[in-house]
Order: sequence, then structure tokens, then C-alpha cells
Amino acid sequence: MDNVQISKMTISDLNEIENILFSDFDDFWNINVFKNELLNPNSKYIVAKLNNKIIGYAGIWKSVDDVHITNIVTAKKFRRQNIGSILLSNLIQMAKAENGITSITLEVNSNNISAQKLYEKFGFKVVGLRKKYYNNTDDAIIMTLKMKDMPQSMRNTCE
Ligand SMILES: CC(C)(COP(=O)(O)OP(=O)(O)OC[C@H]1O[C@@H](n2cnc3c(N)ncnc32)[C@H](O)[C@@H]1OP(=O)(O)O)[C@@H](O)C(=O)NCCC(=O)NCCS
Repeated sequence: MDNVQISKMTISDLNEIENILFSDFDDFWNINVFKNELLNPNSKYIVAKLNNKIIGYAGIWKSVDDVHITNIVTAKKFRRQNIGSILLSNLIQMAKAENGITSITLEVNSNNISAQKLYEKFGFKVVGLRKKYYNNTDDAIIMTLKMKDMPQSMRNTCE
């Protein structure tokens, strides 16, 4: 999709996100969590907009040498149209822009094959498993992209 705009998530985006969070996006976080995240200096969030409407969002937390992907979501009717890939490639660029980052890490539900495939497409590798991480039921797979293992083409895009 060519005309998708990526921008920093702002407090004013939250009204729109709140309206669609439970209908269209999966119910990850309530809006108060987002409010706190936007005030956190170690967090960065982006939204994908089509014709000025939010159709996806994603975010990262920075720790010392690792960037953690906190979430990445495409609105249901826009899935499989490259929005998740656009968001993820922007997160990777944001991680690259931080000083001293050697890896990008995330947890993904072991049942969430779509997300695992998305991350694999960008070179993320499985590095561990957290048993019963989600609701004390589902396992989390830990995936990492090492900056040094990033394909040259992606390095150029991200620099
Ligand atoms: C995971 C998610 C963000 C992918 O977003 P998307 O906009 O559909 O992603 P894209 O269209 O860019 O797809 C990129 C790749 O992901 C994989 N993928 C996406 N959806 C898939 C599906 N339903 N089945 C298998 N692979 C899938 C494919 O490898 C795809 O590449 P391809 O189209 O060239 O085959 C989306 O499914 C979503 O919002 N899921 C709910 C929230 C979530 O689980 N987030 C991840 C939390 S860790």
C-alpha cells in the first residue's frame, strides 16, 4: 500500500485509538497504558494512517543495549496488505537510530503464527521460550534480531 503515512503517536491519536481499540484492534492495552507510554522517555510509538485514519500502530522500549518491541498491530481489515511490514521496518529504523543498540527483542505468543512469520521475514530468530507467559496458559517465544546479523540491504535502509 503506497499512500500509508507513518507518524509519531501523539496524545491526540489516543482518542481515535480508544474508539477503535476494542472493535478493530486486538485488546492489547487499555488507553491509560498508552497515555503512560507516551510520557515515558524510553518508549516510542508510531501510527500508520491511511487517508488520515489510523490503521495500525507499533512501539518500542529502549533499555541499555536492546530495543524491545512492545506491540505491533494492524487493523483487521487492512491485514495482509504490508502494513505490519511497514510498521516493523520503521521500528527497526528507530532502533538503529538509538545509540549503542545491539539487538531488537520481543515476545510473541507461540500460537500467533502470523506475527512469528512477520518477524521471521525480517530476520528475527527464536532465542528462547517463556512457559505459560500469557495468562498463565500460552507460552511466549522470544525472538531477536541482532544488528550485526541484519541483511546489508536493511542496514542501508535503516541508516
Ligand atoms: C501480526 C500482524 C501485525 C501482521 O500485520 P499485517 O499488516 O497483516 O502484516 P503484513 O501484511 O505486512 O505481512 C507481513 C508478513 O507477515 C506474515 N503474515 C501476516 N499475516 C499472516 C497470516 N495470517 N498467516 C501467515 N503469515 C502471515 C507473512 O509472512 C507476511 O508476508 P507475506 O504477505 O509476504 O506472506 C497482524 O496480523 C496483527 O495485527 N495481528 C494482531 C496483533 C498481533 O498479534 N501483533 C503481534 C504481537 S507480538
